[in-house]
Amino acid sequence: MEMTKAKSNNQLMKRLLEIRQELHQYPELSSQEFQTTEKIKNWLQDVGCTILPIETETGVVAEICGTKPGPTVAFRADIDALPIQEQTGLSFSSKIDGVSHACGHDWHTTIALGAAFIFAENRDEFSGTVRFIFQPAEETTQGAKQLVEGGLFNDGKIKAVFGLHNQPDIPAGKIGITEGKLMAAVDTLYITVNGHSGHGAIPQHTVDTVVAGSAIVMGLQTAISRNIDPFEPVVITIGKFQAGHGHNVIAGEAKLTGTVRSFNPEVRLQLPDLINRIAGEIAKGYGAKAKVDFVPQVPAINNDPVMTELVREATKEVLGEKAIVKPVPTMGGEDFSLYQEYKPGCFFWVGTGDKEKGVTRQWHDPAFVVNDDVLPETVEVVVNTLSKALQHFSKRN
Ligand code: NI
Repeated sequence: MEMTKAKSNNQLMKRLLEIRQELHQYPELSSQEFQTTEKIKNWLQDVGCTILPIETETGVVAEICGTKPGPTVAFRADIDALPIQEQTGLSFSSKIDGVSHACGHDWHTTIALGAAFIFAENRDEFSGTVRFIFQPAEETTQGAKQLVEGGLFNDGKIKAVFGLHNQPDIPAGKIGITEGKLMAAVDTLYITVNGHSGHGAIPQHTVDTVVAGSAIVMGLQTAISRNIDPFEPVVITIGKFQAGHGHNVIAGEAKLTGTVRSFNPEVRLQLPDLINRIAGEIAKGYGAKAKVDFVPQVPAINNDPVMTELVREATKEVLGEKAIVKPVPTMGGEDFSLYQEYKPGCFFWVGTGDKEKGVTRQWHDPAFVVNDDVLPETVEVVVNTLSKALQHFSKRN
């Protein structure tokens, strides 16, 4: 398809690099992407895209209809930044103190805009409708939920959703594609341990929640290894443990906050009861009480095999078969998975790693950079994937 030739379109690439640098210099935190939203809307409207009436404070959903009717498929990009002071030394570094695009969502947004521009310019070349979801608040796992509640799927037209993330662990020029498991389900855990405060030298008259809480932290690690099938990965990390006021005062209350990661939906359902039982019984053993709140955040990314094959075919055409690598799943999470609860989809990695160019830093590192060298072919992969998806669903109608 001629329209996928983004790379040779110098004018488009120049425009996209300008957009990327503009977004990068003015990052906005999750759910505060007001200016970013306005900019995206303007850029889309300039090329004749239709903004859809989704009820959301930030974020944009837009569509482009081909001249001939057909199915509707969607691509999602995340638009939010992080509370991190940028230390990249880039000429277009963040101008906002303490906020930066340290996960490359500015880059994802630019890719989606690039694909939208190409479809908008080539309406005669495709049958059906492509929708672009510019999602807010990915970092807080609230954005996908907001858009779904705001009516994203209400007209029932979207047949499939695609998305990507830059991946510094995969070399530039390669694309990481796999069906099934890619990223874990994410849930948040709050445990409050109540005991009895007192003098640090007279523990026999107290119920020490630092000791009971510590035993709970340790107990939760073995709770997984003794209760869950070893072939089903689960991680419980208590990242925050708050208790006490003085070095010689036994704390009457401890608050533990953690993250729970898993893949299998059935295992995920078992976890609240298991954690509740283990934390409760351990606390009881120390004469304390534990209250457990297990707050579900997002399910695991589970790529549909048919949609994954479309991404693979599209990538093969743009970059050749050798560009495709099969990634190992990660316990990291992504709220793209929420869309997959409604429609089949595929989320894939775009390799950006390049030692010579210094693209080695991990996401959320203050010195994290993405890789504009692979931006043109990534736009081509997205355009080609959506084109193939339109053809796929046309055939089925
Ligand atoms: Ni990210």
